[in-house]
Amino acid sequence: MSFTRLSATTTKAGVRAFSTARAQNYKVAILGAAGGIGQPCSLLMSQDPRVTHLSLFDVVNTPGVAADVSHNNFACKVTGHTGDAELEEALTGCDVVVIPAGVPRKPGMTRDDLFNTNAGIVKNLATGCAKYCPDAALCIISNPVNSTVPIASEVFKKHGVYNPRKIFGVTTLDVVRANKFVGDAKGTDPQKTHVPVIGGHAGITILPILSQVTPKAEFGDAERDALTTRIQNAGTEVVEAKAGTGSATLSMAFAGARFASNVLKGLDGEYNVECSYVQSDVTSAEYFSTPVVLGPRGMECNLGLPEMNDYEKKGLEALLPELKESIKKGVEFANKE
Ligand code: NAD
Ligand code: LMR
Repeated sequence: MSFTRLSATTTKAGVRAFSTARAQNYKVAILGAAGGIGQPCSLLMSQDPRVTHLSLFDVVNTPGVAADVSHNNFACKVTGHTGDAELEEALTGCDVVVIPAGVPRKPGMTRDDLFNTNAGIVKNLATGCAKYCPDAALCIISNPVNSTVPIASEVFKKHGVYNPRKIFGVTTLDVVRANKFVGDAKGTDPQKTHVPVIGGHAGITILPILSQVTPKAEFGDAERDALTTRIQNAGTEVVEAKAGTGSATLSMAFAGARFASNVLKGLDGEYNVECSYVQSDVTSAEYFSTPVVLGPRGMECNLGLPEMNDYEKKGLEALLPELKESIKKGVEFANKE
């Protein structure tokens, strides 16, 4: 259902001006809404004018988070749902589902070390999505993303509702970090600095394509190596700084909300481009992150690999075996009874 809404804005001169804005009636669920990412992500999504119903699901503490977020003066309805018995209600009618449910890393762990706990959580939640909102776009944040996206995809296949246009691994934080680090290094505004980041979301599978940064910038070998390594290890930088209390939450909430809002914009007819880890045929890996066009059908098209220099081509060759192994692990897990 769509409607046109009048909104009032106050200009610098203090004049009240009215403009027409198209707005849609979208339901968005956050699964893992009471967590370190889930709470700030819920807050940010409640501010998206396209969201008319924000459905907050977790195994604990959702009544408090929902009550808290619902007091902000935004139009959307906020509901809280707790535990498996309330998953159907949380998901029914959803257009977009954001999934940050699962445990985070502690120092010394890899993202793959989270597999044993998080794979089952994602499988269970994806099963709920396949049953109760099979047409929703899934934005999967839970690690290891390189495996959890294949898990969710296999679950949807088993239920006969798989649509590869609508299952996204959220790699936006890698792009946000790359834009920030390169912007700071080159003296450009990080919000206007754009670095494509391709591959997956773990260690060397995160491949920033610095040769294609806009505005165009030149990097010496040492600077290129240092920036590439920092972008690849940025998650670990936060895990170590948090010293055992978790991993990136605030920057991830920002990046996750940006991605989910851009998916919503696309559904609403406002085409836009984000890097995302999706089912793909641009390399020999079955899932791969590249820039994709978001639109009314979810992923409208995959823009494929950016141009790469020899250093980046070597990085691509090096990451494929690890990425394929993580994909295989996810597929096998999902198909195990
Ligand atoms: P957290 O422990 O603070 O929160 C996780 C939440 O998930 C908790 O509230 C927990 O109750 C909930 N949860 C657990 N099992 C659940 C289930 N079956 N159903 C619903 N909710 C459930 O962790 P966090 O810091 O928010 O991180 C969450 C996940 O996001 C981790 O796996 C982390 O590695 C990942 N992460 C990914 C990225 C990325 O770039 N994709 C970035 C940061 C973190
Ligand atoms: C990140 O990149 O910050 C997340 O994947 C969390 C982590 O474990 O590093």
